[in-house]
Amino acid sequence: MTFAQLWRELEPLGRDQQSGGYRRYSWTPADAACRAWFTAAAERRGLTVEPDRNGNLWAWWGPKAPNAVVTGSHLDSVPDGGAFDGPLGVVSALAAVDVLKDKEFYPERSVVLAAFTEEEGARFGVPCLGSRLMTGAVDPGAARALADDAGVTLAEAMRAAGYDPGLIGPDEARLSGIAAFVELHVEQGRALAPLGAAVGLAEGIWPHGRWRLGFGGRADHAGTARFADRKDPMLAYARTVLAARHAAAENGSLATFGKVIAEPGGSNAVCSAVRAWLDARAPDEATLRATVTAIRSAAERCSQQDGVTLTVRQESHSPLVRFDPGLRDRIAGVLAAAGIEAPVLPTGAGHDAGVLAARVPTAMLFVRNPTGVSHSPAEHADLADCEAGVRALAAVLEDLAGPA
Ligand code: GLV
Ligand code: MN
Ligand code: MN
Repeated sequence: MTFAQLWRELEPLGRDQQSGGYRRYSWTPADAACRAWFTAAAERRGLTVEPDRNGNLWAWWGPKAPNAVVTGSHLDSVPDGGAFDGPLGVVSALAAVDVLKDKEFYPERSVVLAAFTEEEGARFGVPCLGSRLMTGAVDPGAARALADDAGVTLAEAMRAAGYDPGLIGPDEARLSGIAAFVELHVEQGRALAPLGAAVGLAEGIWPHGRWRLGFGGRADHAGTARFADRKDPMLAYARTVLAARHAAAENGSLATFGKVIAEPGGSNAVCSAVRAWLDARAPDEATLRATVTAIRSAAERCSQQDGVTLTVRQESHSPLVRFDPGLRDRIAGVLAAAGIEAPVLPTGAGHDAGVLAARVPTAMLFVRNPTGVSHSPAEHADLADCEAGVRALAAVLEDLAGPA
């Protein structure tokens, strides 16, 4: 099947008709539909599909044997996410298998297609949850207790989807069977377009993290409470947003408040509390620390000024990642031989590949994003570039899983 045919099959699943964006949150019916699609597509190709103990899906081309070459990405999305972030890597993996089968290539090492769960952390707050659990980077007990905005825990959500949350946790056996992991992903940012390149290679990932801030004030009447008498958490929150932007710009880093909940949310009342999520990223750990320290100090100052309480809790930290240089050089050589010039790029976006890089030789391929926009319904990649990505991935798999 061509990439375009596969893409058309997956495209309608979990898409919101109003926004045109995707709401493929883990362990929801939309997620189940994506999983079912992946399972059926892999089985049609003769692959053996199994979930692992953390809910990630693995489709084996070849026996369940050590030294496997793994490729894939994720199927879940951010709220109103784009079509490509995650699914491009999964669909390209299936299409690459078709390319190799058409060439009558038989892998000497098993090729495994993986679809990781809760990569975005859109439902339970911790990004790359499936791969973090697998590598032991997250405590399984703490993970089971993670709750979504409606108060449903991960354990409850997994159970409702037919999975046993008692099984989640480190999966050493599976990890030790991986010879290499290569994740193909849509480019997030716009570095490849000015270079005239359809495909790139990842150098590394900026360190980043998420913090949950709680501003507690006192509900009051919007029409009668004098400014001097108010304890308005929205003010402290708003000042903190501006301070975060300033601190990040000063430090050469990035800081974003993209999710905020005002409680109880009456339009004619001072709210009683504001819950907000800070996402901060920087080129190195020291700069990330300096940026977040400055934002926390500003939040404390602003809260004091407005007479509100403040709580800050870190939800996740993703350390600096440098992908395996030996694997990257090997892939660059394979791509050059196939006539594909792939520039090497850093990125500020997190990926399961970044988590697995701590344990197995890992590399990433990027496919050009002409506008650079991502985590948005406007995210895009041209079909010709997606096809170039499939050719690149097929060449890489042929090399890694071919005769030694
Ligand atoms: C994942 O896409 C992230 O970088 O947040
Ligand atoms: Mn993403
Ligand atoms: Mn992604």
